[in-house]
Amino acid sequence: MGNILETDLAGLKLDNPTMLAAGVLGLSRKSLMRVGNAGAGAVVSKSLGIEPRHGYENPTLVQVEGGILNAMGLPNPGIRTFMQEIAESRLNVPLIVSLYAFSPREFATAAHKASAMGVDGLELNVSCPHTIGTGQEIGRDPERIKNIVESARKVVDVPLFVKLTPNVTDIVELAEAAERAGADGITAINTVKAMAIDIETSKPILSNRIGGLSGSAIRPIAVRCVYEIYQAVKIPIIGCGGVDSWQAAVQFIQAGASAVQIGTAIATKGLSIFRNVNEGVEGFLNRKGYGSVKEIVGLSHRS
Ligand code: FUM
Repeated sequence: MGNILETDLAGLKLDNPTMLAAGVLGLSRKSLMRVGNAGAGAVVSKSLGIEPRHGYENPTLVQVEGGILNAMGLPNPGIRTFMQEIAESRLNVPLIVSLYAFSPREFATAAHKASAMGVDGLELNVSCPHTIGTGQEIGRDPERIKNIVESARKVVDVPLFVKLTPNVTDIVELAEAAERAGADGITAINTVKAMAIDIETSKPILSNRIGGLSGSAIRPIAVRCVYEIYQAVKIPIIGCGGVDSWQAAVQFIQAGASAVQIGTAIATKGLSIFRNVNEGVEGFLNRKGYGSVKEIVGLSHRS
């Protein structure tokens, strides 16, 4: 019998539909290997730029009800240093490198550099909610998304995913622009723009004041975004935002996701979350009599 959990993202075969979301565990070869060994079907690096970047001063992260609020400021060692570390030997699961940049031309340069060093896919971060000149500042406009994706598409053959922001009136028009420009898939969603205040000092807690909220609090927003995008595009969707159980993963898949990314839940549940989600999804499929996870992608649209 075949692998019931196997899924397909624009030709990229994953043994199961769980992926590491872009974030702090995605900066070293060792931590990416650990996540692969823990059962993830694929891993995504932290967002990398052409040049190293320091990021914001602490505090960059605060736990809030239902999740984590962060504004790290895209700290990373730069594409070249990261790729040198990864190049030591292949990872045990497909590696998707997340990239940020400040213009279509720079996205093309970054995409070319990363793909030339051997990656299985790229995820363009046009959705970080709090950095000047990049992220959602450029990813809230369908025309700019089109220009970015077209520029990157011209220089790479590997699957190209575009991670979208929910901090817009209509996320569907962003997904449609990405698809028209040649994207192979959509990741939905990045964090929700948010803040927290320390009432004793009356000051915002994060050094950047505004950050992005992740975790179970944003899951209904993310599921709604996946559901709406699925109705509008044909390319695969990766669900992201509050995946902390197999039930949450099944919700995303039934809304239209071919895979789900997990990030914040690792902080509370550890890396065993990957195996637990996979076992739960498999049990659900067996109980319901499905032969493959692919059969339930978008099921809620057909019920
Ligand atoms: O602050 C950060 O590095 C966050 C990035 C993102 O939300 O994409």
